[in-house]
Amino acid sequence: MTNSKRKILVTSALPYANGSIHIGHLVEYIQTDIWVRFQKLRGHECYYVCADDAHGTPIMLRAQKEGIKPEELIARFQTEHQADFADFAIGFDNYHSTHSPENQYFSNLIYKGLSDGGHVERRTIRQFYDPIKEMFLPDRFIRGECPHCGAKDQYGDSCEVCSKTYNPTELKNPKSAVSGATPIEKESEHLFVNLSNFESLLREWTSSGSLQPEVLHKLNEWFKVGLQAWDISRNDPYFGFEIPDEPGKYFYVWLDAPIGYMASFKNLCDREHIDFDEFWGADSQAKLYHFIGKDIIYFHTLFWPAMLSGAGFRIPSAVFVHGFLTVDGQKMSKSRGTFINARTYLKHLEPEYLRYYFAAKLGNGVNDVDLNLDDFLQRVNADLVGKFVNIASRCARFITNGQLAPELANATLYQEFIDDGDAIAEAYESRDYNKAVRDIMALAAQANQYIDEQKPWVLAKQEGKEAELQAVCSQGLNLFRVLMGYLAPILPLMVKQVEEFLAAPIAWQPEPLLAHTINPFKPLMMRINKKQIDAMIEDSKESLATPPKPSAAPVAADAIGYEDFSKIELRIARIVKAEHVEGAQKLLRLSLDVGEEKLRNVFAGIKDAYTPEELTGRLTVMVANLAPREMRFGVSEGMVLAAGPGKKDIFLLSPDEGAQPGMRVK
Ligand code: MSP
Ligand code: ZN
Repeated sequence: MTNSKRKILVTSALPYANGSIHIGHLVEYIQTDIWVRFQKLRGHECYYVCADDAHGTPIMLRAQKEGIKPEELIARFQTEHQADFADFAIGFDNYHSTHSPENQYFSNLIYKGLSDGGHVERRTIRQFYDPIKEMFLPDRFIRGECPHCGAKDQYGDSCEVCSKTYNPTELKNPKSAVSGATPIEKESEHLFVNLSNFESLLREWTSSGSLQPEVLHKLNEWFKVGLQAWDISRNDPYFGFEIPDEPGKYFYVWLDAPIGYMASFKNLCDREHIDFDEFWGADSQAKLYHFIGKDIIYFHTLFWPAMLSGAGFRIPSAVFVHGFLTVDGQKMSKSRGTFINARTYLKHLEPEYLRYYFAAKLGNGVNDVDLNLDDFLQRVNADLVGKFVNIASRCARFITNGQLAPELANATLYQEFIDDGDAIAEAYESRDYNKAVRDIMALAAQANQYIDEQKPWVLAKQEGKEAELQAVCSQGLNLFRVLMGYLAPILPLMVKQVEEFLAAPIAWQPEPLLAHTINPFKPLMMRINKKQIDAMIEDSKESLATPPKPSAAPVAADAIGYEDFSKIELRIARIVKAEHVEGAQKLLRLSLDVGEEKLRNVFAGIKDAYTPEELTGRLTVMVANLAPREMRFGVSEGMVLAAGPGKKDIFLLSPDEGAQPGMRVK
């Protein structure tokens, strides 16, 4: 494999600054980090930058809800994100924010470039507006009934029940998720980038081998439909950068988000005296790679190259798209405890278990990646600990005084291990990490086989075999060291421990360590215990109790969620009989017809307000699925709903005419 030195700039997508990093995100950051570490290990000049994506309506509203400034909110999340990434050994060269002077500078510059180039136009559009909050509403902040299937409480852009997409104005009974008000339609002027001006550039770029086949396919579909002009402005109130000479208008968050890649790199350049233009200039020879998830392809493969070229910058060398994480074959779920935050994971398990497992699963396609929890335990324990780490522990115990042999016992075998490095490098380069891991584990099996055949534990018991024992175990440790080099992009923390143990650097395809002194061996990695995984899942379920969900409207401290509310089954009931209860001051015994065969027996504390005669024959609303409760006078099998301060002022909630016992109340 040719390995001429390259200049490479790599990015991962910028996480939003209003939510915690979870293991789904980590697919991307781990995938990118492995690739970057591989490039650096191979001696390339490679930089990895990222930032928090700090602008937009959800962040503005979340800060309002918490009663703090958005700047405070994004600072808090940035600190949290950076700690999470650091603890997963994600080795960014720089981590910045889109709410930064560099980003404002480049956003203005790119906008000016697009504008001067005649690519920006004004259009008046009609949009939903919240008359109480006095703001235009993004699609996600409008809820209503799906125009296709009638499902209630759906977002303004798509239905989670029938998965059809539509315009918010098509929703039936729309409501603002911010204030609950019925939105009105209102006109305002927006700025649009004419994407079709870039069609030939984009077509050329996309067919130049910069994209995976599945992504190319998607793009061709979009080309077929026709490239729509892109709305890049948002009206006040908004948390973002105000557009120059357009008071009250802000750059849409997705305009300045990818520019955040440049901003973060510029920040690094200023600190470390790197030549920015060498990487971003129109005729740059450096490589520029973006790792992203499959949900944000449009922004990175159409808008972003158009923005760059419209403003006179280079366009990306390639965009690498990955799929989404599933856990045990299903979407991550809070109720199942599989929506696992990075921090929750770290409380229970080692970061390198996950790095290894993702590597073992990741290919270069866009298909989803499954974390199967049984398989996770199995592979880490059997392969990583049982096969790989085991080589070192099996050999280290027979090395006396840390002295390695002056020669290799089997130079041919060592050379075979070295030779396989080219294919492994090829696999890393093309992001076929699963192949790299497979190849490395095949070598680990070979190393173990060598040890099995040489039987150092037998040699150790025989007189006069000291030199042979030393040679065999030195061979084993040298093979281990080669494999550690191959696994180094995946296991950077273990590399540090092994460097300490072997008192030598870990490198790609190294020269063997001969007549060298090593340090005492310490266990490198523990096996996973099933209990740790179970505890992590439990812990992830618990974190549901504290409502972290960024809900748009102000929420009372004792509020229950829709999920809880929907558990309550309300039904119309006819009071067939009402009677006094002996010895009870407030209670009446009601026999309720709820459309079932049997009447329900319910005790209601409404004696002060109604006589039994007044109640007989009336309809009311009852909670029909309340667990039966043993009371002093008998079992109560539900609850009737009434309102009022008490005593005589209790008003039975009676339904309208036409209601029938058993009807569900919605
Ligand atoms: N802020 C935007 C990206 C702007 S880039 C200029 C964004 N943020 S995000 O926090 O929602 O996602 C960050 C990255 O994580 C995206 O590439 C996204 O695809 C990826 N993932 C988020 N959830 C994921 C999974 N469940 N599985 C795999 N990747 C996931 O989008
Ligand atoms: Zn629907």
